[in-house]
Amino acid sequence: MSPVTIRCFDWDRDRQAAEELDVSCEVGSPLVTVTMGDPLCRVRNSPAYQMLVAELGSKIVGVIRGSIKTVIVGTTQATVGYILGLRVSPLHRRLGIAFLLVGAIEKWFSSNSVEYAYMATQKTNLPSINLFTNKLNYIKFRQPVILVNTVGRRPIPIPSNVTVINLTVDEATSLYNKQMRCSAEFFPLDIDSILKNNLSLGTFVACRKDESWPTAKSWAVISVWNSCEVFKLRLGRVPWYFVALAKLSRLIMESLLLPCFKLRAVPDLFSVFGFYFLYGLHGEGPHAGLMMEVLCNFVHNMAVKVKDSEMIVAELGGNDELRKHVPHWKWIFSSEDLWCIKALGGEGGSQGAVPEWAKAAAPPELFVDPREI
Ligand SMILES: CC(C)(COP(=O)(O)OP(=O)(O)OC[C@H]1O[C@@H](n2cnc3c(N)ncnc32)[C@H](O)[C@@H]1OP(=O)(O)O)[C@@H](O)C(=O)NCCC(=O)NCCS
Repeated sequence: MSPVTIRCFDWDRDRQAAEELDVSCEVGSPLVTVTMGDPLCRVRNSPAYQMLVAELGSKIVGVIRGSIKTVIVGTTQATVGYILGLRVSPLHRRLGIAFLLVGAIEKWFSSNSVEYAYMATQKTNLPSINLFTNKLNYIKFRQPVILVNTVGRRPIPIPSNVTVINLTVDEATSLYNKQMRCSAEFFPLDIDSILKNNLSLGTFVACRKDESWPTAKSWAVISVWNSCEVFKLRLGRVPWYFVALAKLSRLIMESLLLPCFKLRAVPDLFSVFGFYFLYGLHGEGPHAGLMMEVLCNFVHNMAVKVKDSEMIVAELGGNDELRKHVPHWKWIFSSEDLWCIKALGGEGGSQGAVPEWAKAAAPPELFVDPREI
């Protein structure tokens, strides 16, 4: 085999090949990413990003993306590099190409003073887990849950005794800095730029009408990211009974029987569709869970009005109590993720040493950055 070259992605030269490679690689999820002609779509909203390709002869056989930001970890802050979109052509696997790609993106991280590199994969993705933990000295770190809900055709009623307030970007920034900066692992220091991004559709607080905001004892907050504008999804491999249920429920709906019953049809997931991502989920007080349910329904109702938006996705820390209050399909799309981490030896870390905060038990809250979905 001629040697594999790792180099930076070149838009004009590599765009089509990279897109084809992404399509040819399944990652074991029932949902498949469709990048709509932009292989950089999953990183381009991050403060710093890089995409590398592996070239064999004149053929692109592998790709990797990375992004860099500063976050709160433990009681300190650190510059972290996130690895995503690693794909190797099915015809060129087990040749050490992914190993080379990860090594090269780690080098880019190190040259940008990154202290820790981390990645996320499905808990069932054995090739990826083996690669990172056995070959590249990453440790298993956190196990967040991905919660996926479908968007119905009609709005869900919001209880009349609850009020939902749309915060300004400044109000949202200060609320998150006050409430989540110290409690949520991986809280990004540039939260304001996330909230200001055009893809951020707003930050909403719910509290009871008889308790006014911001003095309410029980409340919840949520922010919404318009992932429809970033990339799309399509259905990958799903159980036959899901396909049958989806088709049947749509058939009933189309025959106009549905409005007579309070049934909710599975939306049209058989073509390419978009989704909203929920981030910055936090609640306080005895009724925080209930307020979170109301907020999720409120966002559902926003999505009902958008033709393209067929799903709502959230990712929460594995121990986060709020996960019980985020409506989701338990038995099909929702899944457990695995995050792995490694110290690169930038300013705070020394090469290979596992940071103390990563060895400690996971705090309940994990901030999952919508720019990294
Ligand atoms: C995961 C993936 C990137 C690995 O690419 P690759 O170029 O074949 O990996 P490498 O040849 O560098 O393998 C390095 C190590 O990874 C592990 N590994 C890779 N493929 C494996 C497999 N199918 N089963 C078990 N372990 C595997 C092994 O430890 C391997 O070392 P070894 O060959 O000495 O045993 C590739 O399978 C892929 O593109 N999968 C689909 C997309 C995906 O899951 N991406 C990762 C998302 S984070």
